[in-house]
Amino acid sequence: MSQGKWAKVDYYINDLFVPADPALEAALEASSKAGLPPISVTPNQGKLLNLLARVQGSRKILEIGTLGGYSTIWLARALPIDGRLITLEAEPKHARVARTNIARAGLANIVELRIGQAQETLPKLAAEGLGPFDLTFIDADKPSYPNYFTWSLKLSRPGSLIIADNVVRDGAVTDSSSPDPNVQGIRRFNQLLAAEPRVDATAIQTVSSKGYDGFAIALVRADP
Ligand code: SAH
Ligand code: DHB
Ligand code: MG
Repeated sequence: MSQGKWAKVDYYINDLFVPADPALEAALEASSKAGLPPISVTPNQGKLLNLLARVQGSRKILEIGTLGGYSTIWLARALPIDGRLITLEAEPKHARVARTNIARAGLANIVELRIGQAQETLPKLAAEGLGPFDLTFIDADKPSYPNYFTWSLKLSRPGSLIIADNVVRDGAVTDSSSPDPNVQGIRRFNQLLAAEPRVDATAIQTVSSKGYDGFAIALVRADP
């Protein structure tokens, strides 16, 4: 198997399961034009997030790492009209692009974007009593994943889902002596998730047009 084949199959899947969508396509185009890195979830991954949020009946969603708002749009579309999604982004330029993309998708009333380091905005959300969130999507800087998981759990209820992107990193995650702080952050996150008695969790490897990576998913238990 190769990157070329993974990309070809992604195009095949997206052609079948993800119909042409002007708001989502415009979000990617505007992100690219503004020079944002091409690291949004893929269309079929975005749809998976949307389906998981709907299966779970989510009404309140938290996202850590907005970029241009592509995954935000997929997740916010899973919400009822009175639902709410709070998304956290450190880069003002990313936030500007995302706000335009989210408004163009007709989701400005459902999505609240908070600019700042998530390490700082997460405790503020908790202090404001904004939880519990039914679903949290962790997708910002990898060294902070352990911290983000701790806060996500505090901001959850029994039955909440916590999903994290990029937990395999081209397989580098198995290298315990990796000098890469991203890899070490993901390794500590996976360990924390596995050892946490308040969640049942697993991780899944993925190949896609974005390469070889993976998702982790944790369900907050009713009886810790
Ligand atoms: N979820 C997006 C992709 C997010 S990329 C999608 O799939 O469409 C990761 C984002 O996290 C980037 O925009 C980056 O600026 C942001 N980020 C990095 N460090 C951060 C931090 N400490 N707090 C908040 N956001 C951060
Ligand atoms: C990177 C970040 C992501 O969230 C992702 O999905 C892919 C790559 C990165 O920082 O390289
Ligand atoms: Mg990611």
